[in-house]
Amino acid sequence: MHEITPGRFDGRVALLTGAGSGIGRASAIRLAAEGAQVFLHDVDPDGLAATAETITEAGGIARTRVGDVTSRDECVATVAAAVDAYDRLDVLCNIAGIAAGAHFTDIAEDSYRRMVAVNMDAPFFLCQAAIPHLLATGGNIVNMASNAGLMGQAYTSVYCMTKGALIQLTRSLAMEYAKTDLRVNAIAPGGIVTNLTHNYQMPTDVDFELMQPYFGFRGQGEADDIAGLVSFIAAPGATNIHGAVISSDRGITAG
Ligand SMILES: NC(=O)c1ccc[n+]([C@@H]2O[C@H](COP(=O)([O-])OP(=O)(O)OC[C@H]3O[C@@H](n4cnc5c(N)ncnc54)[C@H](O)[C@@H]3O)[C@@H](O)[C@H]2O)c1
Repeated sequence: MHEITPGRFDGRVALLTGAGSGIGRASAIRLAAEGAQVFLHDVDPDGLAATAETITEAGGIARTRVGDVTSRDECVATVAAAVDAYDRLDVLCNIAGIAAGAHFTDIAEDSYRRMVAVNMDAPFFLCQAAIPHLLATGGNIVNMASNAGLMGQAYTSVYCMTKGALIQLTRSLAMEYAKTDLRVNAIAPGGIVTNLTHNYQMPTDVDFELMQPYFGFRGQGEADDIAGLVSFIAAPGATNIHGAVISSDRGITAG
């Protein structure tokens, strides 16, 4: 658990997707506790309301929007709504994501397309919509990738593809905007205790020996571990961190 730094985001506005659960919720609560006015997005209205309530009960400022990031129109409208609500945008955190395990040849087209749409297309369109506003404030983007974007994992091909793509989107934007103040970074968490990992299902007949490399030896982290890193990277003072892919995975990708 990283220490909270009160006032770090005073006067700043952060838009977070996936804010109704897990890493997105923890990050929203963290940024709000550090002074950010947060705009929270999720497809789950109850989870979103619970996050907003936690923030406002602690004296923070939060607005919410329920929607599905698989729609490009929704991504564009969400950025517009955040800017409309607070008159500026300083931080975009692309955190909404889904995961599923399957044998490669069993993956149905609809589940393939949905995972690509949530994990890869949505951050693309959200970045497109947000960057003009972030350029105006010298803001930054934090993309929630995964150790799965840095290593091959059995039975996880689509997830690995999308997270690898998100890492390359991060690096591409870092280069394209290298002569501006915009910063673009990614975090690559390892296993974190959230609904995503709790509900994760594998086919019954997998070879667990093939999966050992991405289980690691130190168990899973907490959403707060990643929220602290989001805050550290997104903070106005982190000017030296640009185009980075920062792992927080208890060593999974070290070997
Ligand atoms: N938990 C882990 O072990 C882990 C590890 C590496 C990376 N990640 C990444 O971190 C991010 C957050 O994951 P989490 O573990 O907190 O999961 P989570 O399931 O707790 O939270 C994900 C949130 O995204 C929302 N969401 C999903 N599809 C959506 C859609 N179409 N439109 C809008 N919102 C949608 C969900 O409703 C949920 O609130 C994901 O991108 C995930 O890939 C998680």
